[in-house]
Amino acid sequence: MEGVALGRKLFSDPRLSGNGTQSCASCHAPARAFSDTVALSRGADGMTGKRNAMPLFNLAWSPSYAWDGSKPRVRDQALAAMTNPVEMHADAMGVVAELSKDAGLGRAFAAAFGSREITAERVGRALEQYLLTLVAADSKFDRSLRGEAALTEDEQAGFALFVTEYDPVRGKRGADCFHCHGGALFSDQGFKNNGIDLVSADEGRAVATGKSSDAGKFKTPTLRNVARTAPYMPDGRFATLEDVVAHYDHGVKRAATLDANLAKHPDAGLALTSAEQAQLVAFLKTLTEVGLTGGPGAAVATQ
Ligand code: HEC
Ligand code: HEC
Repeated sequence: MEGVALGRKLFSDPRLSGNGTQSCASCHAPARAFSDTVALSRGADGMTGKRNAMPLFNLAWSPSYAWDGSKPRVRDQALAAMTNPVEMHADAMGVVAELSKDAGLGRAFAAAFGSREITAERVGRALEQYLLTLVAADSKFDRSLRGEAALTEDEQAGFALFVTEYDPVRGKRGADCFHCHGGALFSDQGFKNNGIDLVSADEGRAVATGKSSDAGKFKTPTLRNVARTAPYMPDGRFATLEDVVAHYDHGVKRAATLDANLAKHPDAGLALTSAEQAQLVAFLKTLTEVGLTGGPGAAVATQ
């Protein structure tokens, strides 16, 4: 528990950046489910990176981190953020030297790790311990499954579209979302091309694997708390959930690595009515964490 408390403190500590102006929380705002409000976050030196800051919760269930899955552990991504020139732009040794001047912090490291020694690795481990405690599992949708809340008719209709196949021959006119965003995490944890570009400027998963068959594929994001994490997609190109649903309805590009569950749709797209598109958005909004008192979910909702 001491490691978690230390990690929570370090998460909002600007001494982790090169010029002392930026903390992890600068791009991962707790009130926004630990994501950023802008498409491309600014780093400590004012430069922008190429990707949208991801929300941070339910990370314990994720097999790898970053949009391309290039980081095997949370601590790897944490240390990469500290040293990345377009993010916190620090030198790990410099951060360790700065933090080591703080006697109180030395005591917190002793409580967490058994000695006062501050190392970059321990900073990464404390941040990881804290982030792994952030759990989202108590939304209106979860409550409706437990019989503690009732979805409106539109929210229910949106859920039905979400979990139904698009297969008009068999009389099914769903939106196919569940193939990739199914299960309790609302992500299959896979890497998929969802057709936002014909040829993606960001190689995505291929950056990590070097395989051209992975070009334009990205980690399927969770849809929990999605009403709080705008803008959307790895480059933050869509400002609203309406824009996202319009993309899936009629904007999917037939990229070479487009996933089969989207490639099967006709050229005209899903052809959802505007009422149906609004119902999908209404359902997505039921995935926002509501637990305001007690329970691990409260961490995401109230911090
Ligand atoms: C300048 C903005 C910025 C700062 C500061 C920042 N991050 Fe991030 N974070 C991002 C971006 C952008 C991504 C997506 C990275 C990618 O795909 O390459 C990300 C991704 C992550 C992920 C991966 C989440 C997942 O689901 O795969 C973790 C974990 C994370 N950051 C933790 C941290 C920690 C811990 C710190 C502080 C040491 C931090 N970040 C500082 C922008 C930032
Ligand atoms: C073939 C797999 C697949 C299907 C089917 C799919 N998605 Fe996605 N979705 C993804 C991937 C991968 C991303 C992120 C990468 C990207 O956008 O390139 C994403 C991103 C999103 C985002 C943005 C989340 C964020 O944090 O930026 C939303 C919202 C979303 N999808 C909703 C839906 C809805 C609603 C449906 C059904 C109409 C759907 N998805 C169908 C794979 C899929």
